[in-house]
Formats: sequence, C-alpha cells, structure tokens
Amino acid sequence: MPMPTKTVYLETFGCQMNELDSELIAGSLSALGYRFTGQSEQADIVLFNTCSVRERAEQKVWSRLGALKTRKKSHPDLVVGVLGCMAERDGVDLIHRMPVVDVMCGPAELDKLPELIDNAVRTKASLAGSSPEIAIRKSASQIALQGNSSRRSGTLAAAQDSLESLDLSRMVSPIDTNTARSSYVRITRGCNKFCTYCVVPHTRGAEIHRPPTHIIDECKRLVDSGVIEITLLGQTVNHYRYEHDSAVSIDGVLQPQKGRTYKGSHNRDAFAGAQTTTFADLLYQIHEQVPGIERLRFLTSYPRDFGDDVLQVIRDCPRICRYIHVPAQTGSNRLLKMMNRGYTIEEYDEFIDRVRAYLHQPEIGRPLMLSGDIIVGFPTETDEDHDATKRMLERSRYKNCFIFKYSPRPGTVAYDKIPDDIDDKIKRARNNELLVMQTEISDSIASEQVGKSFKVLVEGISRREHRKRGTEIKAGSGMVGITIDGQSARAPVAVLDESEITGTVQLSGRTDGDLIVFFDVPASEANDLVGTIRDVRVNHADRLALHGSL
Ligand code: SAH
Ligand code: SF4
Ligand code: F3S
Repeated sequence: MPMPTKTVYLETFGCQMNELDSELIAGSLSALGYRFTGQSEQADIVLFNTCSVRERAEQKVWSRLGALKTRKKSHPDLVVGVLGCMAERDGVDLIHRMPVVDVMCGPAELDKLPELIDNAVRTKASLAGSSPEIAIRKSASQIALQGNSSRRSGTLAAAQDSLESLDLSRMVSPIDTNTARSSYVRITRGCNKFCTYCVVPHTRGAEIHRPPTHIIDECKRLVDSGVIEITLLGQTVNHYRYEHDSAVSIDGVLQPQKGRTYKGSHNRDAFAGAQTTTFADLLYQIHEQVPGIERLRFLTSYPRDFGDDVLQVIRDCPRICRYIHVPAQTGSNRLLKMMNRGYTIEEYDEFIDRVRAYLHQPEIGRPLMLSGDIIVGFPTETDEDHDATKRMLERSRYKNCFIFKYSPRPGTVAYDKIPDDIDDKIKRARNNELLVMQTEISDSIASEQVGKSFKVLVEGISRREHRKRGTEIKAGSGMVGITIDGQSARAPVAVLDESEITGTVQLSGRTDGDLIVFFDVPASEANDLVGTIRDVRVNHADRLALHGSL
C-alpha cells in the first residue's frame, strides 16, 4: 500500500559541506515524493544536519532536540533524524541521551538516508494504535554510521563508491534548480590533516578525491539548469589530486586512462598526457570545458602545497574568481606547531605575498580578496602569541576573517593531551580585540573600492529592503524549505510579486572578490536583474558594505 505523502523539515548547521549535503538530501527525498516545509511544527519528519566543530554548534542541536520531546509525546509518529558530523561523533550515545531521535546518519552514509527514513516511518505506522509509551519504546532506531571504517585502507574503495552516490544523485534528481544561480560542487571528501584541535578528520573520514569526469559532468548539468556560479568544495581544496591508474576499455582493448597536465595557456597543447589530475589541472579543465560557468570559485585553501601552477591557472582564466579563503589559525609559530598545521608563519606570509604578486590586479577591476579563520585561546596561548596573531592579521589584510574561541573537542589530540587552560574571559577579550582590528581592516578595504566599477552577481532583494517592506525572503537557490542556522537558505534569489512592484528596491550582489554590494533600481527592473552579472559602480562605502549604482 503506498504511504501517504510525508512532509519534511530539514535544518542545517555548520559549513558549506553540510549545506551541499542538505541540498542533495532534499533532492533525493523530493524525487521520492516527500514534501518540504520551513516550519518544523508542520512536519512529519524533522531532520537536523549537524556540525561538531565547536561545542556551541552541538548545543544548538541539543536544545532543538529537547524542544521536540513535548511534541513527540502528543505526536508519537513524528520521525526525528540527526544527520551529519554530530551523529558520526556521538554515535549511539546520542540516542541514549536523546531517545527522541529515531534516525541517525553520518555524513558518509547519507545515500542510505531515504531507506532509513522509510523504515522509520513504516515502523511507526505499524505501531499506530499502541499507547504512545509503547510506540516510543518499540520504535527501533535506524542508524547508519561509518565510524572509523573509512580510515581502514581495505574499505576505502567501498567507502568511495558509497560516498560518490550521494553527489551523483544530483544528476538524477535536481530539485527546483531553475531558480539557482550559484551552486556548490564537491571535489574532495574528508580530511587527512589532523590539526590537533579539529574533529573534521574524525567525522568526515579519510580524504577521497572525486574523479574529474564526475566533477565536470556535474558542473555541466548545473549550468544546463541555469547555474552561473560554481564553488568547488573541499577541506583542503588545493590538495586535490586524482590518480588515473585504472585501465579503461576502448573497443575491447585495455588502455591506461590519461589525465592531463596544465602547461600554461600560451601553450597550444595545454595538456600533455599524464597519469594525474592536479588541482591546477582540474580548475583549468572545468574552466575550459564548461564555458557556461561565469564564476568559478573554491573553498577552503590550505596554506601549504599551493603551487604556482594553481596561481597561473587562476591568473590565466578570466572566469576564475580572485577570492581565496586561506585560514592561518594563529600568527604564533609555537602554536602552529602545537596545532600540527605543518607551516610556519613566515611560510604563510610568503604564500600571501606570492598570491598577491600573481593575482592582485586592481587596475583591471580585479583586486585580490583574501579571507581567513583564526582560533584564539588555544591552550597555552600567551600574550606574545596573541601579539603575533595581531601582527599576522595586520599583514594579511583579509576582507573578512572568522574568529573563533578555542573549543576543546572530545576525540581530538588537543582534547586528550593539552588542557584547555585559557580562561574564557581572556579568550573573549582576545576575540574582541581581533574583531575590532578586522572591522577596521574590512572598512578600509571597502573604502578603497569607492569610485571603481565591478561585475556584480545580483543575488536578490537585500535583507534591509525586506525589513523595510515587511516582505518575506522567498526560498530560492533550489533550497526548498531548507533552513540554515535559523535563517532561510543562502543566496535568497527572491523576486518581487506583482503587487510588490512599487517605487525603487535595494538589491544585493557579490563581486568576483566576494565583496557585498548594495544598489537601488526601479522595482519594475528587479526581477530581470536577479541572477545576472551586471556592472555596478561603487559610490560610497558605509562600514563594511559597498553601495553603488548600475
Ligand atoms: N579545513 C579548513 C577548516 C575547516 S573547520 C582549514 O583547515 O582551514 C573551519 C574553522 O573552524 C577552522 O578554520 C577553525 O578556525 C575553526 N575550528 C576548527 N576546530 C575548532 C575548535 N576546536 N575550536 C575553535 N575553532 C575551531
Ligand atoms: Fe580540520 Fe585541519 Fe582538516 Fe581543516 S585541515 S578540516 S582544520 S583537520
Ligand atoms: Fe562542522 Fe562537519 Fe563542517 S564538523 S564544520 S559540519 S565538516
């Protein structure tokens, strides 16, 4: 007997990897007939795609789960799922602590989610009529966690196949992508760096690089459905490296599969046969083979092993953005070592100088923009270490920088070996001091842009305009009813309804260096502008924002 249509609420926490996973999950579930809602009270199935990177990220989810307890008493058939990094890190302990959870699914097992949900829904249905207490007790939990199996080499190949199927699902069931102009595409899963403070290698497993053909095909499909900006994702994107060692059969004859090596665009035969596709090769191939991508970007860069070949490709390819997110974490060599980052601050500085030398071209309207992450209050951090971080922040001149207070994470080396000995007051003071410095830097970068023109990808009606008009941000960017950190989905490709077309309207967009620009247009033109790239002249900078006109 067919099941009645179920409604899903999916809330996402954490990084862009999770945003992408949520989009893929939403795609595969809607293809199976599930509907989505932005209101958790209206849902039959509540899913949290979670993050473990700092304790606060986990606390948010614990409080969401706590709030569901009462609801579940009156609606025992409600299905609650914890997906992503927290599921992987806490394992079944999470269910013991929170029996309200029916489904748990780690980031590496998300391709199995539809089956897990279906089982949970059926189990509940078979228990209908029992007293709520019995129904809750009897409903067996549906669990798919990979644990550390992806780190065992014997299972790496199997993990690779199962991981690949979630990303490939986008090919089969794109959701509502006709409104999306900007998309993420994964190139690498997992992380092998093991920075001593970080849970990611534990939750996301071993580093696995996706085959270039899959990545390029995915980019092509996205472009066919209207996407013009693609952001490639990986924890250390520049470590991308695909070995083409498997033989392929052509007309029954086995041939080694050839990769290609970038030799510079001046070279007519830019690629010579090679067994390896590097990050530089991948960027170049995507740029050349998918001309419909008007903007190609990537996140997150690791400050080591970022070769000149990559910088050359970025410089030679006009549609690759001049924006690099490359976290230093601290300016202190002593702490970099304790963090196991594998570079010195001098090497970091050398990298930043090299990137600027290659890519900073303000004269052609393409100033290079950098952004970073910093952890303050790492164990044993002294005033001298903190001063070194302040000097690093001054030198780096990021357009923006995320500053985090160190949060000890169970399972990491730092948690086990180095006591969290910096008082929270000191962490907070250092955090605030860096924030004030960064605000000044961001401000001065913004004022430098006044009088210049930029190509701006118009994303939608600005938040300020929505507040002014009292209108809702409509779900856009293909993320139907998906909520991220309590806000509606990223890149609100919102358009005006017939009745809202009055006066002027403030739109917002981003430059190729990821600077946010606001500009006013007659409301009648707004709908046509959203989702296109336009020339905008910056007239003034006010705090961190640029204001301009078409
Ligand atoms: N792969 C990226 C970072 C991914 S995690 C890189 O290596 O740059 C995103 C950011 O969260 C990190 O850059 C770091 O600044 C922060 N972070 C990670 N673990 C943390 C912890 N235990 N406490 C505080 N911040 C942390
Ligand atoms: Fe975490 Fe380090 Fe990997 Fe980044 S590189 S995800 S900080 S372990
Ligand atoms: Fe968080 Fe997992 Fe991303 S821990 S930062 S959601 S990889």
